[in-house]
Amino acid sequence: MQITSLDGAGAEITRVDIRQLSEAELDAIRQTYADHGVIFFRDQSLTEDDHIAFARRFGPININRFFLAHERYPEIALVLKEKERKTNIGGGWHTDHSYDAEPAMGSVLVARQLPDAGGDTWFASMYTAYDTLDEATKEEIAGLRAVHSAKHIFGSAENNFYKANEDTGGRIGNTSAADALQDVTHPVVITHPLSGKKALYVNPAFTTRIEGYDDDASNALLMRLYAHAMKPDHAHRFKWRPGSVAFWDNRSTWHWAMNDYHGERRLMHRITIEGCALN
Ligand code: SIN
Repeated sequence: MQITSLDGAGAEITRVDIRQLSEAELDAIRQTYADHGVIFFRDQSLTEDDHIAFARRFGPININRFFLAHERYPEIALVLKEKERKTNIGGGWHTDHSYDAEPAMGSVLVARQLPDAGGDTWFASMYTAYDTLDEATKEEIAGLRAVHSAKHIFGSAENNFYKANEDTGGRIGNTSAADALQDVTHPVVITHPLSGKKALYVNPAFTTRIEGYDDDASNALLMRLYAHAMKPDHAHRFKWRPGSVAFWDNRSTWHWAMNDYHGERRLMHRITIEGCALN
């Protein structure tokens, strides 16, 4: 097995078949995942069962309450853009599940149908985003908490760009739009539960405000943090190929699925793994 650090964020792991991992390979994968926040594999041949078995080696599976599920495998959420669609899923910087009290640990995404060109995914390291902040900002955000919400994204079928579309007849995954969508708070800087490193934990999709700040001060601080976090130096652009697999950590990375392949179909299978409360 060969592990190569990538520019900006993440590491690529080659010369391994993730269907048949030794304990030593599994340990090395866990460590690389904790250190880098996102890992990529190439040339894998995973069935749906293999995908589920690999994800289960890292924790229990979170059955997504918003996305459409695979018709035979409820553990697998469909990340689908049909060729007639204009919008895509995840087409802006975000981290999944920050709106949950115990945000999901991460997701394993498998490419099933790719456009001829485009459809790359960007990943940004929130370890690097935190480490490269100036000292005054680090002092300002130490001890702050931020509010995270899913209401503006998933709160109704009408504004749910992930699910409400002509392909699903406006249905959303395995829930109704009226399901409880409680806002939660998390520290703005977390100590990562696997690596023990500090990471910036706010994101443009789901963080709505800094707790205890008025609207102007909250917006100003969030915009400043986002502008810093999304610097190209903190990010890696992953080009999918048939057989590619990405496994990211939601606590130490952001991601952004590019929407630059109109007229073509892109289908990815995503399995999300349960996480824990963040400190
Ligand atoms: C996502 O945000 O989970 C989708 C990522 C992708 O489709 O590349």
